[in-house]
Amino acid sequence: MKKIEAIIRPEAFQALRQRLDDEGIGGLTVSEVAGCGQQQGQEGIFRGSKFEIKLYPKVKVELVVDNDQADTIIDIILSTCSTDQVGDGKIFVSSIEEVYRIRTGEQGRTALI
Ligand SMILES: Nc1ncnc2c1ncn2[C@@H]1O[C@H](COP(=O)(O)OP(=O)(O)OP(=O)(O)O)[C@@H](O)[C@H]1O
Ligand SMILES: [Mg+2]
Repeated sequence: MKKIEAIIRPEAFQALRQRLDDEGIGGLTVSEVAGCGQQQGQEGIFRGSKFEIKLYPKVKVELVVDNDQADTIIDIILSTCSTDQVGDGKIFVSSIEEVYRIRTGEQGRTALI
């Protein structure tokens, strides 16, 4: 199983939610976060002056999915959330060792869906 953690522009979220819904992806966690990337919140350096680091509001979407669904979901995020401008966000992918559904005690892949 994989955890896909996408940090995206807040305005991209509704379209992403729709595409994931179309794909039959149910479980996800969404948080409002703030952050900065490699530009440290700056659009550019003005005549070499160093500006204060700004934090921009972003949405973090976390999905834990079966290995064979991961590439499809990553493709959806890439195609839905890209504007080609800096600040589009990042996708982090990691391995998940175990999942439990609290209600039933089910464990592993059957607890995912
Ligand atoms: N290395 C990182 N670790 C954790 N969070 C990050 C990292 N890089 C970016 N983020 C998060 O992603 C958000 C968007 O980052 P951003 O798209 O600006 O990344 P970037 O690497 O600067 O890419 P770009 O050059 O396209 O702007 C940030 O506000 C921050 O919340
Ligand atoms: Mg950036």
